[in-house]
Amino acid sequence: MRIVLFTGKGGVGKTTTASATALRLADRGVKTLLLSTDTAHSLADALDVALTGEPAEVTPGLWAAQLDTQRRFEAAWQQVQAYLADLLAHGGVDPVTADELTVLPGLEEVLALLAVRDLAGAGNWDAVVVDCAPTAETLRLLALPEALGWYLDKVFPAQRRLARGMRPIAALLGRDRAHGAIPSDSVFDALARLADDLADVRWLLADPGTTSVRLVLTPEAVVTAEARRTFTALALYGYAVDMVVANRVFPAGEDAWRQGWAAAQQRQLAAVRESFAGIAVRELPYRAAEPVGAAALREVADALYGELPGADPVPVLATGELLRVDLEGSDFVLSMPLPLAEPGAVEAARAGDDLVVTVGGSRRVLALPNALRRCAVVGGDFDGTRLQVRFRPDPEGGTAHSDE
Ligand SMILES: Nc1ncnc2c1ncn2[C@@H]1O[C@H](COP(=O)(O)OP(=O)(O)OP(=O)(O)O)[C@@H](O)[C@H]1O
Ligand SMILES: [Mg+2]
Repeated sequence: MRIVLFTGKGGVGKTTTASATALRLADRGVKTLLLSTDTAHSLADALDVALTGEPAEVTPGLWAAQLDTQRRFEAAWQQVQAYLADLLAHGGVDPVTADELTVLPGLEEVLALLAVRDLAGAGNWDAVVVDCAPTAETLRLLALPEALGWYLDKVFPAQRRLARGMRPIAALLGRDRAHGAIPSDSVFDALARLADDLADVRWLLADPGTTSVRLVLTPEAVVTAEARRTFTALALYGYAVDMVVANRVFPAGEDAWRQGWAAAQQRQLAAVRESFAGIAVRELPYRAAEPVGAAALREVADALYGELPGADPVPVLATGELLRVDLEGSDFVLSMPLPLAEPGAVEAARAGDDLVVTVGGSRRVLALPNALRRCAVVGGDFDGTRLQVRFRPDPEGGTAHSDE
């Protein structure tokens, strides 16, 4: 079973490429489910068919659904939400506003991923293709299982004990004054169940033998910058990014306007290849019209995966660990594979929030993880396959070179 997630900035072509990929899989005889975690529900528009919350076969071998997160949302989160609403109301927030405030951003997305897990686990499909919501949202929710799990493991048992101890006191104070302030056991249980579910999702999505993420971008500076930050974050969380799709590439043209755009895009594409060295970067031309409907999407798939019927659009690519940061004393050591580099002098320098690494003539530009942006580069080492860069906390930030 394979799960492929498509993510990227708003409007870059996630829904289009996810649909094209799913269609290609189905055409090759792989039983495929195409899902959207995006509440905007544009799958139906891209495929040009009507969809519901339940998977329905839209073309031989391809099932699609637009997840109805609202329904799951109600069941899973009701107790917790009621508690939070109570708490806010207790603090003087009016009930309607309180209700609004307890809708946590990104939570619907998380619940959509729970649905992905359930459907993937049902065993009815060989591949599940997921059209995710734009970058920031997806990232937050992908990080959430670990964050929430940690929180529940470490903080909640203590809070729960505390709450148990406080309940008799609250009873003495009277219901009015203590109302809502102390969570009941059912709230803790609901949170614990949610954490378990999320850990499950996380396990499934971080398994490189099952799941990979494809970053969609358009060759523009702003979009590329965001894709690079997304890549860093995904790599840090251990998600396998196995492809970058550069969409809406202008063909070269005669007139100055077209030539200007084509040249600017080519510069961006060069930067994209530097940023994602070692990962397949596929280009999709800017088409004359919106690729809507199966015929047009099949053409997109051809451009993306080649016209050969045998070309597997979702091979399991053992990418290995893309990026890790270890703490050594007070230094951070960032290491990443540099598959295409030749051993030689390592030069690592900070440029703003990026790390620019040059090894034996190849350059790699990486958006730095947050914690490292406050550090200076104090050393670098390349053993032929892995690059290691040492960072030292530096209150002023800064740039340093290292030659070895
Ligand atoms: N290569 C292309 N050539 C021409 N039009 C394209 C191309 N790729 C996508 N489009 C069109 O661009 C629009 C946005 O694409 P799409 O809906 O796939 O992006 P998205 O990333 O899913 O957007 P959102 O973030 O809003 O969900 C659609 O109208 C789509 O048909
Ligand atoms: Mg979309």
